[in-house]
Amino acid sequence: MQEAISLIKAEHRSLAAVLHGLVTIMGDLQQSGGRTDFSLLGAMLDYVDQYPDRFHHPKEGQFLFRLLRARAPDAAGLLDTLETEHMKNRQLMGELRQALRRYQEQPSDRGRRDAWAELVRQYAEFHWNHMRLEEEQVFPLAESRLRPEDWAQIAAAFRQNEDPLTGLSAKLHYEELLRRIVTAAPAPVGVGAPWR
Ligand SMILES: [Fe+2]
Ligand SMILES: [Fe+2]
Repeated sequence: MQEAISLIKAEHRSLAAVLHGLVTIMGDLQQSGGRTDFSLLGAMLDYVDQYPDRFHHPKEGQFLFRLLRARAPDAAGLLDTLETEHMKNRQLMGELRQALRRYQEQPSDRGRRDAWAELVRQYAEFHWNHMRLEEEQVFPLAESRLRPEDWAQIAAAFRQNEDPLTGLSAKLHYEELLRRIVTAAPAPVGVGAPWR
């Protein structure tokens, strides 16, 4: 049980760090009016798009939520809300990609920059609330209702790092993407040069 929960929390922390980085970078950029590194923003958006949708949410849905539904029928409403949010994540990502494209077409247009920055803030808020709901409500319920054999299945799923589509190590792919983000992002998010 401890191992499964700590694996899920570690995935939440990675995602929260990149979300926080995006919000911080856009806030700084709005204040400084510096030049935008669109390849970095694109890499960060790829991370917050693919990491939850392809790597994290499927394991929650197919293991943690499925097993909890079986052991705790009273959790159905809460789990329905969270699964709806997993789907909403995809829709919000479409809006974010479109706003970033518009901003990249005309980087000097402050309206487009601010529209993208506002969507980033709303998306980060949405995802932070989603993870908080899981950690504050689902985890305690799971700890009281799931059985040792359930936890073994969940831990095995979260230990399994291959992308089911490609068979490649998804974890390595995301770690490499995260390393590129930290290398390129300006302080305090990463160790890259400041944007001017
Ligand atoms: Fe989730
Ligand atoms: Fe989650």
